[in-house]
Amino acid sequence: MTINQSVIVDLSTVAPLYERVRSVIPDVEWAVHAHYIAAIADLKKTRNAVILAHNYQTPEIFHCVADITGDSLALARQAVETDADVIVLAGVHFMAETAKLLNPEKVVLIPDERAGCSLAESITADDIRALRAKHPGVPVVTYVNTSAEVKAESDICCTSGNAVAVVESLGVDEVIFLPDEYLANYVAQQTDVRIIDWRGHCEVHERFTAAELEQYRADFDELTIIAHPECPPDVLDVADFVGSTAQMQSFVYDERPKRVLMVTECSMSDNVAAEVDDVEFIRPCNLCPHMKRITLANIEKALETLQPRVEIDPAVAEKARLAVERMLSIGRVHDARSVA
Ligand code: 13P
Ligand code: SF4
Repeated sequence: MTINQSVIVDLSTVAPLYERVRSVIPDVEWAVHAHYIAAIADLKKTRNAVILAHNYQTPEIFHCVADITGDSLALARQAVETDADVIVLAGVHFMAETAKLLNPEKVVLIPDERAGCSLAESITADDIRALRAKHPGVPVVTYVNTSAEVKAESDICCTSGNAVAVVESLGVDEVIFLPDEYLANYVAQQTDVRIIDWRGHCEVHERFTAAELEQYRADFDELTIIAHPECPPDVLDVADFVGSTAQMQSFVYDERPKRVLMVTECSMSDNVAAEVDDVEFIRPCNLCPHMKRITLANIEKALETLQPRVEIDPAVAEKARLAVERMLSIGRVHDARSVA
């Protein structure tokens, strides 16, 4: 990691932020983060920029430089609301594309273009055209964890936070739901609509095993296990609660379990733990390598250079935007939390 020492920043302004993250960031690491955090705060003002951060970003990003935090749905909703000129998406590429679709006139930056997603990689626009040919007339519901090209071939998007509501909004007996097989399986259990699925998986959530969770239960008394629906079905069977990222977060804030294991990406537990001091977090650590490509250093660089920008072919964008906007028109399920 390199620090741009030519930029003079006032570190005293960031000291209070350390109080937010003291329980999850050791002070030796904070010494490195503080300079970037101060420099990013200055650059945000100069550029009239906002930073949107997903819950899987590390605490120094999530709690110390983000203006808006949330899951995929909340970030998509908030992307429409901002009047900033520049949006920095601290998350993965498909999230930055969604922000760009909803803000075609704004500069949208993704600090590392390699921040991909195994689900987005699992399906192409050609795959959807083939599925439509095989199942004529059946609408396509697409998880936002996909490329703009795939969204453009879809009828409507969804996230883990609104998938059942989106499927049921269509008023049909059968939908094609892709690309996450496990989320599709979970949705199928909550609705009478028949689901045609696809074999995409999240490389982070599919790594959890039921045996591993049973072992944690045996090792820790009074353990509450909460899981994201991208996990395999036998993992969800072991969980006490299954919910989207926002629902998992709310569960901990509202229920205050004595001891909790959040079956999801590692930083999510850190970010919740930073704000909740009466819950013990048991952390089997599965990191998303794509989310972890985003760092304070490359956020600062993106704001300095206004690169890398997300650009989408206008013809693709026009169709993809419709699928996202149809999703957003379905009832507000969860809100982002403004931390500015
Ligand atoms: P949500 O933000 O929709 O819960 O999705 C989780 C995820 O894996 C995002 O990449
Ligand atoms: Fe994709 Fe899974 Fe990483 Fe989310 S956690 S970006 S679904 S690979």
